[in-house]
Amino acid sequence: MKCCCKSEYRGLIAIAIVAIIGISTGVQPVSSANILGVFLSSSPSHLIVHMSIMQTLAENGHNITVVSTLKPKINHPKIHNIVIEPTEARQKEMDEELSVLGVKKQNPLVMMMKFFRADNAMITLQLDAVKSEKFQSIYNNKYDLVIMGYFINNFQFIVPAKLKCPVIISWTGPPMEMINDFVGVPHEVSYVPSVFTPHINGEVMSFGLRLFNFVSNGLLRLATNIMDITFEGLYKELAADDPTLRTFSQMKQNVSLIFCNSHFSEGPIRPLVPNLVEIGGIQIKEKPTPLPKNIADFLNASKGNGAILFSLGSNMKSTSIQPKTVNIIYKVLSSLPQNVIWKWENLDNTPGNASNILYQKWLPQDDILAHPNLKLFITHAGKGGMVEATYHSVPMVAMPVFAEQPTNAAKIVSSGYGLQVDIINLKENEFRDAILEVLHNPVYRNNVRRFSELYRNRPMTARENVNFWVEYVLRHQGAAHMQSPLIHLNFVQSNSLDVILAILLILYLLWKLMKFTIKLLCKLIYLAIGTLKAKSLNKSKRE
Ligand SMILES: *[C@@H]1O[C@H](CO)[C@@H](O)[C@H](O)[C@H]1NC(C)=O
Ligand SMILES: *[C@@H]1O[C@H](CO)[C@@H](O)[C@H](O)[C@H]1NC(C)=O
Repeated sequence: MKCCCKSEYRGLIAIAIVAIIGISTGVQPVSSANILGVFLSSSPSHLIVHMSIMQTLAENGHNITVVSTLKPKINHPKIHNIVIEPTEARQKEMDEELSVLGVKKQNPLVMMMKFFRADNAMITLQLDAVKSEKFQSIYNNKYDLVIMGYFINNFQFIVPAKLKCPVIISWTGPPMEMINDFVGVPHEVSYVPSVFTPHINGEVMSFGLRLFNFVSNGLLRLATNIMDITFEGLYKELAADDPTLRTFSQMKQNVSLIFCNSHFSEGPIRPLVPNLVEIGGIQIKEKPTPLPKNIADFLNASKGNGAILFSLGSNMKSTSIQPKTVNIIYKVLSSLPQNVIWKWENLDNTPGNASNILYQKWLPQDDILAHPNLKLFITHAGKGGMVEATYHSVPMVAMPVFAEQPTNAAKIVSSGYGLQVDIINLKENEFRDAILEVLHNPVYRNNVRRFSELYRNRPMTARENVNFWVEYVLRHQGAAHMQSPLIHLNFVQSNSLDVILAILLILYLLWKLMKFTIKLLCKLIYLAIGTLKAKSLNKSKRE
């Protein structure tokens, strides 16, 4: 018995040794790498997502440098920040473009055009940063990897090209038309809705919707290709005829991996490639940070009726909402028995001083949404806030303004996480009814809670995924083996148009051949019958 135990023991040790040798030979640990983050879009909510990735990597011991056009709110003492602020004129230009959007109702096509126009200021703002003197200092260092925030800024491929290192893209939404081609995510237009297609999760698209989807996917990809002509020009300008640099089109096929801030449980279900990794919710803290004292006290005092959070996000300044609309919002919110935290920039000039409203210039949204007394989130339906609210099981009233917000709002409604109101023609009654319905009908909170459970149930947390895949790319020198062959096929090849054409041609030739053969056969038979007849005629004549 004793002996038997011993041998078992030895066996275990042997297994352990084999395992240790296996681990140490199979997977080399990645020691501290030099990683550069380039996050130049001027959207604070995008920066929060990108910085959450960098924070994770810094915590894991990597040497992180980040270039951004805004001062990051999420940070880490070990991250080297380089902030290149936009000129005042450029910032003003962008604020103006955004404020125009909140005032008038637009049809989807005009909105699409405006979306692209609004991005013009965003593009030039990012380009300014890449061209700035401060940015050039980056090229003096050596980096093992560049992580690039995507926001219609393909000219930025110049950075990994000049640093001659692998590149990972960070995108703040689900896979979409404008990034799919970098890693070869297939465009499945018959069942994967485009950014502009209103879609109900789990429902098969009707013919009309599929038609719309086909066209909008095509237009988006066309727009991407047209914009790439501009980007290629900018890239060439930035490359300044350096023959050692990879070209723009080579760089577009050189993306090692894309991190998308999405998760399949949000739907719609779509096919992915191995180098598109979903890290949805990376910006959500696994444990909330203690709230600032005034907010904590305010929320703790809301035990009876609960509290509401009202925020139109960071892109939209409160001053860009029409005063008439602000009045309606104030009238409704101040009449509620709930306490309300209202994100408002100008604390010297608030909409009114009702005792149940706490105005905050900036707020730790995620930590507030995690508070147990929070009962409702009134939101512009930006992706970030929506994810945080669903993660913490808070139902919503959506007031979308532009870009992907109407799609998000439609999703909130169709998933039963809340209701939607029209901010441009806001009616007092509608607004109040929506709030009361979502507050008092438990169905919304139950739906969000059910989703929250699915969203959190994963084999690896978002942070673990980031650490694993970044090190994977580093360990395998860019991990080119993960690339889908699709990125090397052109439009004709990837849609098998050449193959279909060849098959049609063969069928046509076969048909022609068949026709020819049948004709020939007919002729031969005809001839044969002719000779037979002639023979029999001769025979009868002879007789
Ligand atoms: C870490 O990054 C900084 C900034 O890019 C650089 O100056 C420094 O040399 C790096 N440290 C190491 C140990 O590589
Ligand atoms: C990027 O290009 C370099 C140089 O041509 C190559 O060695 C590397 O494997 C490429 N990486 C990917 C992911 O395609």
